[in-house]
Amino acid sequence: MNKKFWKFYRQVFKLPSMLRVELCSLCNLECSDCYMRKKSSGQIVGNGYLKFEDFKKLLDKNPYIEMIEVSMGGEIFLNPDFIKIIEYAHKKDVKLTAFNGVNFNKVSDEIIEALVKYQFAGITFSIDGTSNETYSIYRKNGNYDNVISNIKKLNEYKKKYNSKYPILRWQFIMFDYTKHQYFEACDIASSLGFADIYYKMPWSKKEYTVEDHKLLTQVYSKRIPVYDSDVFNLLRKNSIPLCLHPWLSPQVNWDGRLLGCCCAVHRDLGVNVFKVGLQRALRAPRMKKMRQILLGKIPSDNYIECHNCDFYKTMKANNDYIKNPSFV
Ligand SMILES: C[S@@+](CC[C@H](N)C(=O)[O-])C[C@H]1O[C@@H](n2cnc3c(N)ncnc32)[C@H](O)[C@@H]1O
Ligand code: SF4
Ligand code: SF4
Repeated sequence: MNKKFWKFYRQVFKLPSMLRVELCSLCNLECSDCYMRKKSSGQIVGNGYLKFEDFKKLLDKNPYIEMIEVSMGGEIFLNPDFIKIIEYAHKKDVKLTAFNGVNFNKVSDEIIEALVKYQFAGITFSIDGTSNETYSIYRKNGNYDNVISNIKKLNEYKKKYNSKYPILRWQFIMFDYTKHQYFEACDIASSLGFADIYYKMPWSKKEYTVEDHKLLTQVYSKRIPVYDSDVFNLLRKNSIPLCLHPWLSPQVNWDGRLLGCCCAVHRDLGVNVFKVGLQRALRAPRMKKMRQILLGKIPSDNYIECHNCDFYKTMKANNDYIKNPSFV
């Protein structure tokens, strides 16, 4: 069957072309605010990694899936099946991305080469600083020089294979103690061939100050624009708003439990994709309920993650719910 057929199939059965499947929830760092290292959320998602056999079955049984985001709450490179998984996705022409983030501290040469060889599509590197002193304040057990040296190795393989993939994004969390390094990060990103750099507010901060805004405007004016249309399309496809995930790119935990969206780390939806199959799981009662809640058709309840989520609270307060999510 060709792509046209599977697109038609997806439209008829209202299925997504994209999924999110956590490759590994384990991590080698101890960032102090990371929800995964906290008992309240980390325990629900659990500590583990996606097995190759589960991944293979998922792709074999769902040939209409074109793209999978594989990073969520851990470090994907700690998955011992990593190379087998990305090799199989490449064989099946399924694009993989890790735009949620990687820390890239501990990665073998084999994995770095495989990322290029098997055309892993895109990666966001979480690098909050431009020196080891600042970087390791938040990224506990991490080492800035290791990260940069691993990125240089990745670039060498990209040159060797004459490949533009994986495309590289830099995510810089704006801690106050790194203000003096925001600009330098732009220059380093450009010299290392990053397609994009963006600055993110830390979870500990509720809103930007006027001073933050001023600084951001200046920094963004220096940012390299994305000219390459493949890169631009990849970034656009991947930037699905969170509350559309339950329709357009549902989140699956590493052990197959359906979570719905990538923020759902306190509750699962009571069904396992690896046990009942993806299409049946997407029709499960709690998944339906989550969608109905987001459409504003029924009130939320404590079984569904949205109930305590700030995004849902804002929708509810403004009576502005999701409208007509279309499948693509
Ligand atoms: C839990 S991490 C998992 C992925 C990977 N280990 C990483 O750190 O990029 C998911 C995302 O949360 C981001 N993150 C971690 N701590 C944060 C904080 N205090 N404020 C905002 N984002 C944070 C990470 O940079 C990453 O983009
Ligand atoms: S590197 Fe990512 S997953 Fe690991 S502790 Fe830090 S934020 Fe959490
Ligand atoms: S309201 Fe929150 S939990 Fe629900 S889909 Fe949106 S981001 Fe996810």
